[in-house]
Amino acid sequence: MADAPQPKPWITGIHAYVPGKSTGADGRELIKLSANENPLGTSPHALAARHGAGDPARYPDPDSKDLRTALGALHGIAPERIVMGTGSDELLNLAAQAYAGPGDEVLYVRYGFSVYDIAARRCGAVPVVAPDLDYGTDVDALLACVTERTRVVFLANPNNPTGSFLPRAELARLHAGLRPDVLLVVDHAYAEYVDADDDDGGMELAAKARNVLMTRTFSKIYGLAGERVGWGTGDAAIVDMLNRIRGPFNLSTTGQASALAAVADQDFVAKSHAHNSAQRARFVAQLEALGNYGLRPLPSKANFVLILFEGKLSAEAAYNGLMEYGYIVRWLPGQGLPQALRITIGTPEQMDEIAAALRTMAEAA
Ligand SMILES: Cc1ncc(COP(=O)(O)O)c(C=O)c1O
Repeated sequence: MADAPQPKPWITGIHAYVPGKSTGADGRELIKLSANENPLGTSPHALAARHGAGDPARYPDPDSKDLRTALGALHGIAPERIVMGTGSDELLNLAAQAYAGPGDEVLYVRYGFSVYDIAARRCGAVPVVAPDLDYGTDVDALLACVTERTRVVFLANPNNPTGSFLPRAELARLHAGLRPDVLLVVDHAYAEYVDADDDDGGMELAAKARNVLMTRTFSKIYGLAGERVGWGTGDAAIVDMLNRIRGPFNLSTTGQASALAAVADQDFVAKSHAHNSAQRARFVAQLEALGNYGLRPLPSKANFVLILFEGKLSAEAAYNGLMEYGYIVRWLPGQGLPQALRITIGTPEQMDEIAAALRTMAEAA
């Protein structure tokens, strides 16, 4: 007999999620461009609603009814077809747990969001990683990895950490190539940053197909990462399953109140979208001007840019150097990207400072 409780072997195989840091090695507070948060903060209406939210001695509404009604009205979805999560992270985990288990396979693309690996392993399933296509999603490679054991396919669109985007026709082709018993999770954490003309059709697929779950979050463009509010929509049967296994009071009172007010403030969303598009384009142009030094920004439709360091200046040196300038960004050796930094789009001044710092370091390397 063991002398201590024995965790399941698939749990011991999990590497804990590594969150974006906000301090340097010496404990110094740094400007945080490592977690894709909104540099404009939060809608003032959402902040006011958060402060005025109900009695903390009482449990929150277990069904987040007002919030689901508001989201349904905004997106043209029946509120019964919406399930809320403690961040979209909870829903990603629940999707894997509901549809996969020991012996099953959960599939996603190389350089996919790191939670997919954890979600797969948590339920005892085997994570299967399809090859990428120059850091982007390769539909043929994904489909080639589907086996009779595949139960769930995760696709972030845009993807984190690459920023890559799968156009509508490709997403439709991926879905058409999957068996009806394979759940396709379209993770739209960054969807609000995509221009309307580029809509990937994920929400429509979730409305029509029986095997698609679309997830969204209030952590990014809505600027409510600290409140942990996410949501998903799909076939009624999928929503029903996730509702059975989610935390019964998974959204706090302040989370529900602030998200409800945030939904009503679409001006803030539009302002955040415009800010991001403009500053991302400006930053990428500044990086492209450094092309001679081997810095290659990957095309991004999200609120961050992944830069490949293919010249003398290494990503690691730039990561450490940026800390000297007061910035923490994301270096991802643990995700197979020791040659890259992911930098969240911040304020114009911050992006100018980072571009200038990268130039100085590249020139000196
Ligand atoms: C692709 C992707 N999906 C989901 C999430 C989870 O966000 P949250 O749990 O805050 O909703 C993130 C957060 O970084 C993400 O990048």
